[in-house]
Amino acid sequence: MKNKMKGLILAGGCGRRLRPLTFSGAKQLIPVANKPIIFYGIEALVKTGIKELGIVVGETAKEIHDAVGTGEKWNIRITYIPQQAPLGLAHAIKISKDFLDDEPFIMYLGDNILKEGIEDFVRQFENNKPNALILLTKVPNPQEFGVAVLDENSVVKQLNEKLKKAPSDLALVGVYLFDSEVFTAIENIKPSWRNELEITDAIQWLLDNRFSIESHMVKGWWKDTGKPDDIIEANLLVLESIESVNNGRQKDSKINGRLRTEKGAVIEKSVVRGPVIIGKNAKITGSYIGPFSSIGDNALIENSEIENSVIMAGAQIKNVEKRIDRSIVGKNVVISVTTQSPRTHKFILGDQSYVQIIK
Ligand code: DAU
Repeated sequence: MKNKMKGLILAGGCGRRLRPLTFSGAKQLIPVANKPIIFYGIEALVKTGIKELGIVVGETAKEIHDAVGTGEKWNIRITYIPQQAPLGLAHAIKISKDFLDDEPFIMYLGDNILKEGIEDFVRQFENNKPNALILLTKVPNPQEFGVAVLDENSVVKQLNEKLKKAPSDLALVGVYLFDSEVFTAIENIKPSWRNELEITDAIQWLLDNRFSIESHMVKGWWKDTGKPDDIIEANLLVLESIESVNNGRQKDSKINGRLRTEKGAVIEKSVVRGPVIIGKNAKITGSYIGPFSSIGDNALIENSEIENSVIMAGAQIKNVEKRIDRSIVGKNVVISVTTQSPRTHKFILGDQSYVQIIK
């Protein structure tokens, strides 16, 4: 696809709902199927043909920069735009005005993943040239999102941000297309109760002032990875369509289903039931790795059972008899069972860690 528009990814914010995982890292860098979440957004934009990408960054700017780089990997140019505090999605656009240069652009929230990409969405914008195009999908929990009310002809009538009693079950997905009128809208709105300049309010302002707003329905699944369960769910959804690739070694093991192993990964005396992905130089020994698990680079899983989980790089899980299910284990975390005395539980856990032990 050809596309002269610029892309804008929002990767500021502080990831409060994902603590403790975000105490030591940016939420947009949490791995889903061993790939940082923000890479899904970058790749979706690259597929639409963008060549110029701005990334709005906050206190985790350095990490994001270190992980994403200059854009060479994708053959695009990346400009980092610092935001002094997470003052809202519309604020992030406002501070990107120089970069965006009054041209139409695509905004993509750095914690969103969409299965089908956004090419159809961009095509609709190019064909119809509305002032704004929003992406929508039906959700069971609309109170947790911005929502849109449409009339019987699918015309956008009203937008609201996270209302306890949501007037619609059509959530605003975190990808938007705008022309330069959005800057006028942002100049005319006030911060919300959570002290953020809300993009939802800016689009409502456009509606109220008779600018044209169109909507597009998401095909395939969409995940906003704002909470731990969303990460597990997104991991499952991405693994559902991985292909088997074997770059590692297997010995005395039984493998069923799709398995992707990276270079240097070793699986021995183990059972793996895919879809599973195992990172570089990770070692699985005497263990069971069940469906929808991602094991990060250099992780070690010894005599343990894991299912539906995200185990990040360098983590070690040893001799845990009972199955670990629907869990997220951060970088370099160690979970082990000892047979030596004293046979006590021993925890060194950071703030807001979560441990559940079965009797
Ligand atoms: O994911 C879809 C939802 O995203 C929409 O339904 C909502 O209408 C929209 O307001 C937004 O809600 P969230 O509360 O989920 O947004 P969050 O604060 O998680 O921020 C989304 C991304 O934007 C995330 O990668 C952090 C980044 N961000 C956020 C703010 C507030 C910034 O870069 N700067 C900011 O000031």
